[in-house]
Amino acid sequence: MKMTVSAMGSGTVKKAALAVLVLLLAAGFGYSRNKKIEPAPNGIALPAGFEAWRLVSVSLRADNDTIRAILGNKTAIKAVKNGKLLPWPDGTVLAKLVWKQKTLEAWPSATVPGDIVHAEFMVKDSVKYAATGGWGFARWLGPELKPYGKEAGFAQECFSCHTPMKDSDYVFTRPAFMPGTL
Ligand code: HEC
Repeated sequence: MKMTVSAMGSGTVKKAALAVLVLLLAAGFGYSRNKKIEPAPNGIALPAGFEAWRLVSVSLRADNDTIRAILGNKTAIKAVKNGKLLPWPDGTVLAKLVWKQKTLEAWPSATVPGDIVHAEFMVKDSVKYAATGGWGFARWLGPELKPYGKEAGFAQECFSCHTPMKDSDYVFTRPAFMPGTL
């Protein structure tokens, strides 16, 4: 009886120690990864932890054979759930991850993500980014996340293409319906 208890005890301790180690490693990798990525020329830093954000929608671009996932940070997802998207609240960050599309070898009629093309972001701050509709724009290219653009003015290119969407706060994406949310 005594032995069982102490065996359980040490097992639990080991599990806890392992969990702490895993957390430390995860935090460590995240930190070193983000440390090395240069900010965009307009000063926007790569948003930390975007890989773990929730899905807002997906899209395909038939003109350049790419497949996209649109993700949102906590503020964005809360706004989606509450249907409060006009305007999206300050603190919203939307991410769009773009991959070249490729054929799934095991099932050729299926199209899946291939090489990463870029990761791009829209950061809502209605005061700071008032000149570009309240959104800060930034993009990082390829798997090494090289900042896109030569100088801060690159964001004008983004903003002018998003301008036709003024009536939906410059955002093209309509959140996809999530089953189970009725
Ligand atoms: C030639 C037009 C065009 C340009 C230039 C452009 N975008 Fe977009 N963007 C779109 C379209 C169309 C969509 C929606 C379709 C899709 O999912 O790709 C979109 C979607 C997005 C989204 C998802 C939110 C939304 O509005 O649907 C983000 C984030 C984004 N773009 C960031 C950027 C950034 C950052 C730049 C500049 C570095 C940029 N875009 C430049 C056309 C453009």
